[in-house]
Amino acid sequence: MSVIAGRLSIQFGAHFLERQQGGRGVLLGGIPGVRSGKVVILGGGVVGTEAARIALGMGAEVTILDINLERLAYLENLFGSQVELLYSNAEHLLGVLPRTDLLVGAVLVPGKRAPILVSRQGVQKMQPGTVIVDVAVDQGGCIETLRTTSHTDPVYVEEGVLHYGVPNMPGAVPWTATQALNHSTFPYIAKLANQGLAALEQDSALQKGLNIHDHRLVHPAVQQVFPDLQG
Ligand SMILES: NC(=O)c1ccc[n+]([C@@H]2O[C@H](COP(=O)([O-])OP(=O)(O)OC[C@H]3O[C@@H](n4cnc5c(N)ncnc54)[C@H](O)[C@@H]3O)[C@@H](O)[C@H]2O)c1
Repeated sequence: MSVIAGRLSIQFGAHFLERQQGGRGVLLGGIPGVRSGKVVILGGGVVGTEAARIALGMGAEVTILDINLERLAYLENLFGSQVELLYSNAEHLLGVLPRTDLLVGAVLVPGKRAPILVSRQGVQKMQPGTVIVDVAVDQGGCIETLRTTSHTDPVYVEEGVLHYGVPNMPGAVPWTATQALNHSTFPYIAKLANQGLAALEQDSALQKGLNIHDHRLVHPAVQQVFPDLQG
């Protein structure tokens, strides 16, 4: 689903950059004689990498910020010099925000709320009609001014900037997303159907997915959220 959401972030971002949608009226790919749009991606994981892939394909200028140096090195191998790779800190971020046309939030800190990387003051530094697509909204979002939106009413304007915060982006492309999810989950479903509980003994991935057993909550993370339901 992260691959799909990453790809969609650029598709939606390009759409909302159109003037009729309230955007800056920038064509991401530019045209000979006119500069390309600038896409800045916070977090170079699965979502960020796929967003970069599509943005580059459209001809945009792309910057990715991440705190994981190994990941930045991987991205350099993948994209070469086509992408600007920056360590994610306030200085680098504040430097690129005024030049950004489309900002994609794609950070994840496993087990935690997404960190707020762009404050309201940061958003105020962006040009009117800039678009923010915060894919990390399902983990609380990484932009201070971002709140959850829906497929039927996906954007709102704050500080002159368009904000997109739909937590289930792949739902926009169910024909693709359902097949992709089936491809990933079917092998596990087949194991469970054929072997029942015994399948968990042989497959550590299935074991990790066990939430309730014998009327008891057994998953440590779920136990933490519902401490009263352990009996
Ligand atoms: N809205 C949707 O429909 C949708 C769909 C899929 C995924 N998501 C969300 O997208 C986010 C990214 O998912 P992913 O699969 O790419 O995760 P991932 O783990 O592959 O990548 C996350 C990246 O964020 C980086 N990161 C962490 N802290 C950072 C910081 N302070 N600055 C910059 N980078 C930082 C990590 O180093 C990592 O490379 C998650 O929050 C996920 O829940 C949303």
